[in-house]
Amino acid sequence: MKVLGIETSCDETAASILEGKNNKVKVLSNIVSSQIDIHRKYNGVVPEVAAREHVLNILPVINEALGNNKPDAIAVAAGPGLITSLMVGVETAKTLAYAWGLPAVSVNHIEAHIYSCFIDGAFKIKFPAVFLTVSGGHTMIVLMKGHGEMKVLGETVDDAAGEAFDKAAKLLGLGYPGGPLVSKEADKFKGKSDLEFPRPMLNKNNFDLSFSGLKTSLLYKVQKDKVDCEAKKGAPGYDNWKKRIPEYCFKYQEAIVDVLVKKTIKAALKYKAKTVCLSGGVSANTVLRDALSRTCKEEGLAFVKPELRYTTDNAAMVACAGYFKAERKEYTPWDKLKADCNFDL
Ligand code: KG4
Ligand code: ZN
Repeated sequence: MKVLGIETSCDETAASILEGKNNKVKVLSNIVSSQIDIHRKYNGVVPEVAAREHVLNILPVINEALGNNKPDAIAVAAGPGLITSLMVGVETAKTLAYAWGLPAVSVNHIEAHIYSCFIDGAFKIKFPAVFLTVSGGHTMIVLMKGHGEMKVLGETVDDAAGEAFDKAAKLLGLGYPGGPLVSKEADKFKGKSDLEFPRPMLNKNNFDLSFSGLKTSLLYKVQKDKVDCEAKKGAPGYDNWKKRIPEYCFKYQEAIVDVLVKKTIKAALKYKAKTVCLSGGVSANTVLRDALSRTCKEEGLAFVKPELRYTTDNAAMVACAGYFKAERKEYTPWDKLKADCNFDL
């Protein structure tokens, strides 16, 4: 079965053709048109601008992804996300499903991130599996007992992990999107640091997470250093607070990764998971990938992560989740397809 996947939940217009057979999948095309350069000057995504760009890009992107392929089903990310962005993908999927007489599959965007792990790892993932899925819009620890059997064990009670990276980058004047920029600065730091960031909810007896306090802690530290710099003009090492940016980023990233890894492993052990999987935009972070992989090894747990190109928003993951739903005949009639910014997993 060939599935056309469509993704427009935020600022990437994406389409993909994926072929699935006997629970094994192969990506035949994966086209992503990113709007990052447009939104960079605003330091974040402007929903109205994103929606207009999706309207301009959606058909050329789908056309390029299709090539000579004739899909058997259409899968679209229907939410969660920015409603005006989601509507472009959903209305296009609806129109194509009607015009081509194809069955349609409504896919949850977070489920799609989870399914990015199945693109190359379909046969490596043994159930029950615990998924850490981390992006700019969500942070969740999910238990999967089988295809279509998902249970959210915990999630962020405030900011998403990617949002924490993005806000830190904004605060430090690094730019947008923040994750890769904070990570790049962190890589420059060598040596010891006495900076301490909180590990919110780490010792709480649940799997929820919180990141907004981390950002506030960074803000106070930077403000204090700025004041100290003014007071100690000329003192060695403190003549310019900006020199500490790599150190802030290193310790900030360390705190995020520490909490994510510890909570995920705790969930995996409690639910006797056979596999731990990592996905979402923040899973492009090398320190997180390495730390979770290392800890899984120490605990004797198999670890699966997607290829880098399937970590940030793409349509191959939507097509992949769509294929597994189609195998279960979980179709949605074209006229019932609806964008839903609060689509629960
Ligand atoms: O999954 P995604 O493309 O979109 C959402 O569904 O939100 O994730 C985007 C998020 C942004 O917050 C971005 O800063 C973060 O993923 N991100 C990273 C890295 N690359 C992207 N965060 C940390 N380290 C990275 N290397
Ligand atoms: Zn996403």
